[in-house]
Amino acid sequence: MNLNVRPLLSCPTVRLSNGLHIPILGLGTSHHGGYSHRAVVYALRDCGLRHVDTAKRYGCEEQLGVSVKESGVPRHDLWLTSKLWPGDYGYSNAKRACADSCRRLGVDYLDLYLMHWPDCSITGRTNREVRAETWEALEELYDEGVCRAIGVSNFQIAHLQELKEDCRIVPHVNQVEFHPFQQPWALMEYCHQEGIVFEGYCPLAKGEALSHPVVHQLADKYNRTPAQICIRWSIQNGVVTIPKSTKEEKILENCQVFGFSLDEEDMDYIQSLHCHKKLIHLTYPLWNG
Ligand SMILES: NC(=O)c1ccc[n+]([C@@H]2O[C@H](COP(=O)([O-])OP(=O)(O)OC[C@H]3O[C@@H](n4cnc5c(N)ncnc54)[C@H](OP(=O)(O)O)[C@@H]3O)[C@@H](O)[C@H]2O)c1
Repeated sequence: MNLNVRPLLSCPTVRLSNGLHIPILGLGTSHHGGYSHRAVVYALRDCGLRHVDTAKRYGCEEQLGVSVKESGVPRHDLWLTSKLWPGDYGYSNAKRACADSCRRLGVDYLDLYLMHWPDCSITGRTNREVRAETWEALEELYDEGVCRAIGVSNFQIAHLQELKEDCRIVPHVNQVEFHPFQQPWALMEYCHQEGIVFEGYCPLAKGEALSHPVVHQLADKYNRTPAQICIRWSIQNGVVTIPKSTKEEKILENCQVFGFSLDEEDMDYIQSLHCHKKLIHLTYPLWNG
């Protein structure tokens, strides 16, 4: 493990189709494993991270607002992503939910607002109809400047194709599960073709990838940690990457991924670990929760 690397001072960005630049490395937050105020302040203030991913569903928007304020980082230097939960789909609900997220976060605008999941369950309506109506609300929020970019999450190619037929603005981002055991290359290729930035969540496979022998072998070879190898691999694939940690030392470790690169054969070695393993599955009863 090499902790004698300078903290992240500046982070490469990925250009969205509307010309904005999203930092390629962000900090994940979630309702699982708790929320650490100290760790988020540390990430922003001491590590120089400028991109945080959250969602109404994670139940920590209000806490995140407090952490952001305490960090002292000016709003315009931050990239804040939040997500619309399917229980809030529909035109008016979506508008209200976005305003509520902004209020909880203590901000006037979001840098990126995502539809969290393609499916929902509204009696008498198809999911496609509801997605289109919801997306129209996001398009208006974008036009009004309340959301500087809009996107989707967990959308497959068919969902994106349908939305393209139904909508005015093609999503700027699709955020999906991406780690050594889950590598949806066809979806990534489709997103690239359509000008949709591909963002990957669970880059450490929720910690499961960190004990894989190949990841360990590469960590030894590069004198890095297993987490750094996984995050570097994701970033080196051009994927916007949002590892989560509630521990300051791990956040620092997860930021130190720009001072080295993996050889092509090692990129391929990790690519060979793909086994279609998905860690995130949502089910209908959750929508209204
Ligand atoms: N759009 C979606 O549907 C969706 C779904 C899931 C996640 N996400 C987003 O993606 C983010 C990341 O996903 P995730 O949290 O599920 O998975 P992850 O980032 O792959 O893994 C997080 C886990 O790894 C541990 N960890 C972090 N850094 C470590 C390190 N350097 N060494 C050892 N262990 C480490 C964390 O524990 P400690 O906290 O104890 O360090 C935590 O248990 C989430 O926070 C969320 O923002 C989005």
